Amino acid sequence: MSHSTESATASATAPAVIRRADYAPPAFLIDSVALEFDLVPERTLVKSTLRVRRNAEALAGGHPAPRLVLTGEQLEFVRASVDGRPHEDVRTGDNELSIGSIPDEFALEIENICNPAANTTLSGLYVSSGNFFTQCEAEGFRRITYFLDRPDVMSTYTVTLRADKAAYPVLLSNGNLIEEGDLPDGRHFAKWEDPFKKPSYLFALVAGKLVALEERITSGSGKDKLLQVWVEPHDLDKTRHAMDSLIHSIRWDEQRFGLELDLDRFMIVAVSDFNMGAMENKGLNIFNTKYVLANPETATDTDFFNIESVVGHEYFHNWTGNRVTCRDWFQLSLKEGLTVFRDQEFSADMAAGDSPGAASEAARATRRIEDVRVLRQMQFAEDAGPMAHPVRPESYVEINNFYTMTVYEKGSEVVRMYQTLFGRDGFRRGMDLYFERHDGQAVTCDDFRHAMADANNRDLAQYERWYSQAGTPRVTVRTAYDAAAKRYTVTLAQGYGEASEAARATQQGPLLIPFAIGLIGGKGSDLPLRLDGEKEPQGTTRVLELTEREQSFTFVDVAEKPLPSLLRNFSAPVIVEYDYTNEQLAFLLANDSDPFNRWEAGQRLATRELLALAARAAKGETLTLDDQVVAAFEQVLDDPSLSPAFRELALMLPSESYLAEQMPVSDPAAVHTARVFVSRRLATALRDKWLAIYEANRTPGEYRPTPEDAGKRGLKNLALAYLGQLDDPTDAVRLARAQYDGADNMTDRSAALSALLMASASPNGEASAADASLADFYQRFDDEALVIDKWFALQATQRGGPNRKVIEIVRKLMQHPAFTLKNPNRARSLIFSFCSGNPAQFHAADGSGYAFWAEQIIALDSLNPQVAARLARGLELWRRFTPALREKMHGALTEVASKVKSRDVREIVEKALA
Ligand code: TRP
Ligand code: ZN
Repeated sequence: MSHSTESATASATAPAVIRRADYAPPAFLIDSVALEFDLVPERTLVKSTLRVRRNAEALAGGHPAPRLVLTGEQLEFVRASVDGRPHEDVRTGDNELSIGSIPDEFALEIENICNPAANTTLSGLYVSSGNFFTQCEAEGFRRITYFLDRPDVMSTYTVTLRADKAAYPVLLSNGNLIEEGDLPDGRHFAKWEDPFKKPSYLFALVAGKLVALEERITSGSGKDKLLQVWVEPHDLDKTRHAMDSLIHSIRWDEQRFGLELDLDRFMIVAVSDFNMGAMENKGLNIFNTKYVLANPETATDTDFFNIESVVGHEYFHNWTGNRVTCRDWFQLSLKEGLTVFRDQEFSADMAAGDSPGAASEAARATRRIEDVRVLRQMQFAEDAGPMAHPVRPESYVEINNFYTMTVYEKGSEVVRMYQTLFGRDGFRRGMDLYFERHDGQAVTCDDFRHAMADANNRDLAQYERWYSQAGTPRVTVRTAYDAAAKRYTVTLAQGYGEASEAARATQQGPLLIPFAIGLIGGKGSDLPLRLDGEKEPQGTTRVLELTEREQSFTFVDVAEKPLPSLLRNFSAPVIVEYDYTNEQLAFLLANDSDPFNRWEAGQRLATRELLALAARAAKGETLTLDDQVVAAFEQVLDDPSLSPAFRELALMLPSESYLAEQMPVSDPAAVHTARVFVSRRLATALRDKWLAIYEANRTPGEYRPTPEDAGKRGLKNLALAYLGQLDDPTDAVRLARAQYDGADNMTDRSAALSALLMASASPNGEASAADASLADFYQRFDDEALVIDKWFALQATQRGGPNRKVIEIVRKLMQHPAFTLKNPNRARSLIFSFCSGNPAQFHAADGSGYAFWAEQIIALDSLNPQVAARLARGLELWRRFTPALREKMHGALTEVASKVKSRDVREIVEKALA
């Protein structure tokens, strides 16, 4: 008795866990939805008419469900009727509306009220800058009206919007506009119809004072399409790039995948209060302004690039996500991993442009390098901590916490490996079969894998482990050369190393790992590759298929002892262990025909050196830098055959957070000391070369955000950043001031400001070198929210010093009139930039960073749980840090755990502390 009471108490406080194994099809389906909105900020009336029927699939074997149970949150129920008559058997409960005494098929009419003005969560219907917006993924529709708010319930929608005409002249929803007109009392209406069935998470409406850039295009099959980019009036001059990106995306999907836009009209809307990047609502994509608005004065090359990539991502969801959607949220990577893969391929193709052969490969490689950097820095870290989960998770408490690097970025790698195994044509055959089988359905990751397997006549049973096992695989490589027999044997062994407990719990057996390899001869060129048993050599890069725990592959006819180029183009999301010497890495950096691996060799060299120096710094020993590292960098700087974009990537040191994660015990202060030391040594040793690079990579003439010009600006500004670290930063300050004053674009202006901040942290620099430019920057752009975000972020991420505690600057900026916690972009620009973008200052030994972190999570928790939960993830790797930091981090986590209420934050901190 007492035992059962105890467990009842425990389950009342413990958050409910949703499990993949518990999936059951819905007892009812909803074929069509008619929604009517009377939009008023504090009191919006929603009338919903649903065509409901029992689901034959759910009946099989079981009993018919006695009641229809709809979910609703933060709603005021008004009334319900069935088949046009008021209904008696209606119960409103905790977050639900339950209807009994119902026939097998009926029309259900519901009226409810919600309060968009009071909605600070930015989920459901909310107000931003006086306009109405919705965000329904994953479970926001239930905050608008009572519904079967799950992705396997797909319906056609008709939406009528009514609002005051002067305050809300524009009324938008999914699909086609079928009617509009005036109503009494200065009101008006618009009626929209979406011809495609969709789950509720793809519903959207927008209402307010907006204007659009419009363009008409003809689709591949000759149909007219209307494209619109909707923004607030003062932002109309920043919409051209988003429109161009949309047109490029449409053309690319036609050409690469034979997929056409299926609606007559496609709309993008920008909103300044938004929890994430953007949302793929059918025909009405809603974007964070950060991923729409750009002109040369306000946006950097990176912004221009990100806009193209996110516009592509959301557009590509129209097929991978919308036409074929997810059966349940455990399948999230079905749409996200696949769509990230598609946007990465799109960006790579856009970077390559029309350049021929090797130049095109090199341009694609710069994109690949950036994508892999994100994966290794963020996803590998996630996999090493308490939030580690498979690409297809087994359970969650709050689904919003599972829009993760693993689901998105590792998920994209898992899709990419099909293409690596089957080639572009084989991948395309798999995609075609996937759409042939599943168009209009809500399906699973297994369905996608089966389409790939069947289209390519392969058994991919073992491949499922990529979806079900967490943790980062390690491939250990051994090589042996038999000079007499001219045989070279490569032995690959796979395992998981020291995986986190969360990851270990999921591991069942070896993976199918496509391992691309090349062999390089003494002169630096690729050797032809002939595997034992083959009649002839086939190419110079081979994809070995590792399926066992350990496997050997023998190349024959190998005339000289080669140097292996391993995991070319990062053919699988794994860690490769092989004992290269520094000489060998320098040789690969100079010679590998695989541009990704050239970069990789330089990174390995730098990482090894930096980690050794960090270990010395931790012990207080003096630091010296191997001349070989300087020589390797110098050789890249000098190589005119390498594009500026590639050189920039190769000359950039691995980030402090990545390095700290590679240490047996993370010590951010030691990493910072080592990295600053190496940067300063490279700056000093190569001073004249940096100056020459700076001059040689100017881009005179009108600003263009092309890959070529952006590459030059990137390399030039990297040179400036190195120069800013000289003991005597006079040159850098002179160049940066001139660049700041003369800049006609945000890339150069913000890079100059950042170099001035760097120079003012230099031991002999003037502490005030950046002050005037910081003040000028604010004044110049005080009406451009996205630029003011940069102003906050630059200050939050600046290098600190003995007399410069960045936490104090950040706390002061929190009081600035332009700061607000309510706008996620602004919160991210100051708080997240400091907590995740400035590790040396955030992990200050006195714990001041952690105390700040805890305070901000507690403040955000009641305003916006999704944003609070993202910030809460900042300390999840606490167990890996030095004992003194670990103890302070534990204190901050415990403090947060005792104060927060949201399911979102609680899941994160409870997992971290478990
Ligand atoms: N599906 C969106 C994308 O990847 C992301 C998304 C999920 C989202 N939930 C959200 C965006 C909530 C904003 C708010 O494209
Ligand atoms: Zn997406």
